[in-house]
Amino acid sequence: MESQVTSQSETLIQTPQQLFVVVFLSFFVPLASILLVVKLITGGINISPDALTEKAVSERMKPVGSIQIAGDVDALNPPIPSQETASLKPLKNGETVYQQVCAVCHIAGVAGAPKAGDKSQWEARIAKGKKVLYQNAINGIGIMPAKGGAATLSDDEIKAAVDYLLKQ
Ligand code: HEC
Repeated sequence: MESQVTSQSETLIQTPQQLFVVVFLSFFVPLASILLVVKLITGGINISPDALTEKAVSERMKPVGSIQIAGDVDALNPPIPSQETASLKPLKNGETVYQQVCAVCHIAGVAGAPKAGDKSQWEARIAKGKKVLYQNAINGIGIMPAKGGAATLSDDEIKAAVDYLLKQ
């Protein structure tokens, strides 16, 4: 019945070839456009091949914090100073001790300290004899504290400083 209703002038598909072309297009055109849309969406994501190397992956997966020991590891286990090394500690020479400890007072004559190099201030003191000066420098005298306040220095270091001071 239908074939009778459908006249040849009313339909675009008139041959089997045309039917085939229409079926073909109706299948592939949507498929192609879907592929294009997919490509458009995923095309923006650019995954660099380097991002998948083992190093890069473990770098991304490593814990946020990491412990680093600054400086020498030996600093955590300082060697126990033996008696031997302690006695080998180099003595500070007179000049060093003088510059580091005594000069503060004895250059300017702070608190009545006899000025280094001022002969008139030292004459009477030197007259007492070096031994007395050594002892007073070691034990302190008047305002001057014992060993000039540097209690860790040895007696010999103080004596050397006195010698240096007297030579000024
Ligand atoms: C805080 C300041 C001060 C420092 C530091 C100091 N002195 Fe003195 N020193 C004095 C004063 C003050 C006198 C004078 C004390 C007095 O005669 O009453 C003096 C006196 C002396 C005398 C003379 C002692 C005597 O018998 O007449 C000698 C030697 C001396 N100082 C050596 C030293 C040496 C060595 C050092 C460093 C190790 C030193 N002083 C550091 C203040 C200082």
